[in-house]
Amino acid sequence: MKETAPVAPCEALAQLKIALRKNRRHPHYRYFQMATVTPEGAPRNRTVVFRGFAPDDAALLVITDSRSEKIVELAQNAMAEVAWYFTETREQFRIRALATCVSEGAPSAEDVALRVQVWQQLSDAARAQFFWPSPGLPLGTGTAQAITEAVPESFTVLKLSPIVIDHLVLSKVQTRRRSRIISERWCEEWINP
Ligand SMILES: Cc1cc2nc3c(=O)[nH]c(=O)nc-3n(C[C@H](O)[C@H](O)[C@H](O)COP(=O)(O)O)c2cc1C
Repeated sequence: MKETAPVAPCEALAQLKIALRKNRRHPHYRYFQMATVTPEGAPRNRTVVFRGFAPDDAALLVITDSRSEKIVELAQNAMAEVAWYFTETREQFRIRALATCVSEGAPSAEDVALRVQVWQQLSDAARAQFFWPSPGLPLGTGTAQAITEAVPESFTVLKLSPIVIDHLVLSKVQTRRRSRIISERWCEEWINP
């Protein structure tokens, strides 16, 4: 299939922002599935909450616990895939992304500031989970941490930087467009749904 001329910035990300606006009356519009690959090579999927875009607009933000298994998986293979279905507009975004884990001691000043900023935006209930015993351990094992004002070590921000976006729209005439980064530029093509 013939590819159109390179586009910048990414049109699919602009479409994603439109979908977020049009679907915001549904409380679940911020939930998506994020898959990783285990060290054994098996797929592993889970639901997470979209926390906005990184300041440079180039990555989706998710928060997670640094002790969770996904962190081990991403350390081995930083590739993740997002599947995000918007019920109001009946469209799916499937996004292959490179994940960067912004944990305590992040090397760049921007990331340190981002981690604090995202923490400050959380409700008390959302913050409390990061002081619970380690996720995934047998129930009743592990120790809870005392709640502190400081950002806990367990708090991690995942930056998911898209490299491929597959946008499927289930309208009367279905459309599907794939956008990929080729030679550092977004290129897109319409493909059969
Ligand atoms: C609606 C919903 C939202 C969730 N949001 C998050 C989230 O933002 N971050 C997160 O780490 N886990 C979230 N979870 C829990 C994950 O789905 C998963 O159970 C947990 O992160 C452990 O995954 P892991 O063992 O693969 O690391 C959410 C679960 C549900 C059902």
